[in-house]
Parts: sequence; C-alpha cells; structure tokens
Amino acid sequence: MSHGIAIMTSGGDSAGMNPAVKCAVEYATQKGHRPFLVYDGLRGLIDGNIVPASRELVSGILHRGGTVLRSSRSKEFFDIDYRRKAFENLKTLGIDRLIVVGGDGSFRALNQFYADFGVPFAGIPATIDNDIAGTDYCLGVDTALNMIRQSVDSIRDTASSFSRAFVVEVMGRHCGYLALTSALSCGAEICLVPEIEYNLDTLGARLKHEIANEGRRYVLAIVAEGTKMADYLTRWINDSIGMEARLTVLGHVQRGGSPTVLDRIMAYKFATAAVDALDAGQTNAIMVYRDGTYGHLPIQAVAGAKYKIDPALLRLARPLAG
Ligand code: F6P
Repeated sequence: MSHGIAIMTSGGDSAGMNPAVKCAVEYATQKGHRPFLVYDGLRGLIDGNIVPASRELVSGILHRGGTVLRSSRSKEFFDIDYRRKAFENLKTLGIDRLIVVGGDGSFRALNQFYADFGVPFAGIPATIDNDIAGTDYCLGVDTALNMIRQSVDSIRDTASSFSRAFVVEVMGRHCGYLALTSALSCGAEICLVPEIEYNLDTLGARLKHEIANEGRRYVLAIVAEGTKMADYLTRWINDSIGMEARLTVLGHVQRGGSPTVLDRIMAYKFATAAVDALDAGQTNAIMVYRDGTYGHLPIQAVAGAKYKIDPALLRLARPLAG
C-alpha cells in the first residue's frame, strides 16, 4: 500500500543528515510511496512548511554538511494545540507516516505526536554527541571526530613548536564519547570526561616526571564540555605543572563539514531500514546499530534509557584522567 511519508531533520544538525534524507526519499519512491520534505524541523510541521519531495530537491546534497531541510528546537510542539495544527497539515497533504532524523528529544516529541494522533514514525539517530541509548552509532559522529582530529593535529604543531600545553574543549553535551575517542586517536596526554573520575595529583606527578626525566616538552589535553573543567585545567597546568598553557574551545566547527564515507554509508543503512520498518508496521521504532548489527528498538528502550560508553573504551582512556 502506498503511503505519504514526510521526512524531516530535527534538533542539533549533524553531518549525515543530508545523505539520510536523500536515501529515504529515493528508497520510499522506489517502494511506491509518496515522500514529502518538511523544512525547519518540528516548527515546519506546525507551520506547514512541507512540500512533495522530488529527485531534483534531493540531488547534489549528499556531500553537504548540516541539513538542507534545516532544523529547529521547537518549544511550541510541547503544546497540544500546535501539535493538532501539525496533524491537520499532514492530513491535508495525505501524509500518514513520518521519518525523523535527529536526537532522542525529537524522537520523544514524535512519540507524543503518535500518542495524540496515531501517526507512526521511524527515527534515525543523528547527533555528534553519540549519546542515544541502544545504538553504538549516531550520524555525524565520524565527521565530527575527523574535524576534531584535524584541529588537534594542527594544535599539536604549534604546541610542539612553542613547548606549550594546549587544552582543547570538545562538544558532547553530557557525554564524553567525542572527547574520549579523540584523546585516544590524537594521542592526548590528558582526557577529562564526565564518565571517568579524574585525579589531578596523579596526573600532575606523571606529567612532572615526564617533563623532568623523559623529555616531555608539550602537553595536549582533551576535555569534554560536560565536565566544565577546561578553564580550570588550563590554569592548573600553567600554575601547578609550570608549563605555559592555552585553551582552545573548538565549538560549532565540530558540527560542520562534508559527511565522511562512514556517515554517508550509515545514513543509507539507517534510511532504508526506517522505510522498511514503517512498511513492516512499526509505529515508533528507532533505527540502531549495535555490536555490528543493524536493527531497530521501540522508542521506550531508547528514550527511557541512558547511553553508556563501551567499558573497553573507558578502560583505554582511564590512565589519561590520572
Ligand atoms: O547536541 C549537539 C550539540 O552540538 C552539543 O554537543 C552541544 O552541547 C550543543 O549541541 C550546542 O547547542 P547549540 O547549537 O544550540 O549551541
């Protein structure tokens, strides 16, 4: 049976959203459905910023970062009157299914919408934070990690030339995944994340020993924004270790950039799985990738749980916290 499927991006943008939108449109069309595009996320649902999708609208977007559908964080969607308006917009256009590419806040919003009006949806996890429970991977993470790697490699050049310490604060909201993975892949000496207890005394003793006996001339520290420790650590290195220290807050540069190969391929896997899940009668499933396998989980298993970083990864990074 042919369905009207609206595809939207919601919450913080991330690389991989565009390939996911393109693939969802093309695959839904192949399967005989009528895909639509929602611009401006949840706000666009309310405002009726929805158009029939065409090949032309999704061509030339695969390599672009961010989301060509734009995104928003809508407070209005919490209000049933605005949700009713969104439902009326969908009804008028003959849309009876939704695919949302975003984070767990967006999934929860659409689950409420499903409870209100019975419009099934499928969720595709997309956030650079990699903090969605039930999936090992969210779209945008690999691109963000590569952005960070490139920046930290550049910072290392100046740190080593000038014998300085650099503290690099990375995003992730309350999750340390980006910081942890970056610290390991960039060879940082220090890594502070919310998931690991730090000990500055042990760290200090190690660094002083390396400076005095092992020829250490510079230090790289990667700190997750969720620890709120970047400023303090910079001053601590300066004052307690005695090495001139600078702080770099990478900020939104981490959210941009052309999606990596991994993000493009993951987007295709998740997008086809989302269309298939809706066709199989799923009403509120979130696409996941776990232990090397693709699948989907009910929203309750995702939105009701807390994401936990792989303990093996945590063990590898533990020495970097002292
Ligand atoms: O959730 C993605 C993210 O980039 C977080 O890492 C960061 O804390 C937050 O969004 C920044 O939000 P905003 O773009 O609204 O400043």
